[in-house]
Amino acid sequence: MGKVVQANNTQRFAASATNRAMSKTMNATRETPRGATTRATRTSRAAAASTLYLGAQHVLELVRRKGLPACLAAIAERIEADFRRWQHFDKTARVASHSASGVIELMPVADASQFAFKYVNGHPANTSAGLPTVMAFGVLADVATGAPRLLAELTLATAMRTAAMSALAARQLARPGSRSMAIIGNGAQCEFQALAFRDAVGVRELRLFDTDTAASAKAAANLAGSGLALHLCRSAAEAVRGADIVTTVTADKAKAAIVTPAMLEPGMHINAVGGDCPGKTELHPGVLEAAGVFVEFEPQTRIEGDLQQMPADFPVTEFWRVLQGLAPGRADARQITVFDSVGFALEDHAALCFLRDAALEQGIGEALALVPALADPKDLFGLLAATTANGGGDAPDAAGGLASRHREHAAAVRTAGPTPGSLAAARGHSRAHADA
Ligand SMILES: NC(=O)c1ccc[n+]([C@@H]2O[C@H](COP(=O)([O-])OP(=O)(O)OC[C@H]3O[C@@H](n4cnc5c(N)ncnc54)[C@H](O)[C@@H]3O)[C@@H](O)[C@H]2O)c1
Repeated sequence: MGKVVQANNTQRFAASATNRAMSKTMNATRETPRGATTRATRTSRAAAASTLYLGAQHVLELVRRKGLPACLAAIAERIEADFRRWQHFDKTARVASHSASGVIELMPVADASQFAFKYVNGHPANTSAGLPTVMAFGVLADVATGAPRLLAELTLATAMRTAAMSALAARQLARPGSRSMAIIGNGAQCEFQALAFRDAVGVRELRLFDTDTAASAKAAANLAGSGLALHLCRSAAEAVRGADIVTTVTADKAKAAIVTPAMLEPGMHINAVGGDCPGKTELHPGVLEAAGVFVEFEPQTRIEGDLQQMPADFPVTEFWRVLQGLAPGRADARQITVFDSVGFALEDHAALCFLRDAALEQGIGEALALVPALADPKDLFGLLAATTANGGGDAPDAAGGLASRHREHAAAVRTAGPTPGSLAAARGHSRAHADA
């Protein structure tokens, strides 16, 4: 992993960041020519919608400070709380853009106060090109104003929230006393799943299988010292044999049947994570036929989950109904249960809220000027003139003095007052620069 860049004091997100921006604008006011003073003074009163930025290094620092188990537990708690108030959310199946190599998806959800969305991709061949299969970022915005309040990495956070969601479902659906778990697919998500199940479900023994033995060796090395008894297996069947819980978290753009009916044992719980896209499955249809099937948001899972293989009226239970006591979970100790996970926007809402609150608590993150500060919110165009008069903002004069010549000219035009001739001259001047 890369070196941690710890957020320093000047990067910390706080009201002081806005104050600094304000005083910078006010200093600029004193230095501007007379004709620009009014506009600049108004700019000093401008209220910007401040956005907290959490990049990959910020989230990494946050997880290191709080500890991964604490983050997994806190995110699971947030997901559970959100699922318990399921009816409060405006929910939509995610929008997917498919290509031959993968999918790019947008996942929106909102309650009365917060709108959240995640951008996420799924490109199973990425790892051979040095990129993760799954990469993500997300936004939290105020519903009342639409102002974006948080822009955050969600690649690490997706692994945490997916593991937290899986463990939350298993806590309700797996046989009490489940201690052994097979994980088939030992890539980026694997260790997060293992640790969430250790802490939330009580798993103590892990059987690892991946078609890429190096991935299993990586997972085993990362999990050494975790307290889990680790077994490297030579096949999916060997991993599944005798396991209380089976997690499938493979990445392959194929209709795979990694778990077949012949592998099932009474009372098994299957946490199927990797079948999350049309044409991408992990379970043989016979596994679903033999099981009680639980899903996140049915309209989305019918399209994307292992459920895509089943008739439209195949019965499933949305998990929130179990949490709210409106539907039974596991029927008995011999029932086979499947959590057909595809990842739902509400889990990302919970993860984003966790990141925001934990970052503010820890003083991690940066204030991002994503939205311009406007003295007169109807005068967006005027911002261009104010910025020019105030010295071009923070933008470096990379064009070798071109920007400063623009500034001088604009200040001169404003001082003299706009005349048809001077506006024409300014336009000509700008065009000449643009052509340069
Ligand atoms: N449901 C959700 O909420 C959710 C969230 C995140 C990721 N995912 C999905 O989980 C899957 C894994 O994600 P990742 O980030 O760990 O990907 P990854 O590419 O890092 O790891 C996937 C692993 O699966 C292995 N694999 C592929 N086919 C296999 C097979 N037939 N048998 C055994 N192993 C096999 C690969 O060798 C690889 O090591 C992806 O399909 C991703 O789309 C789902």
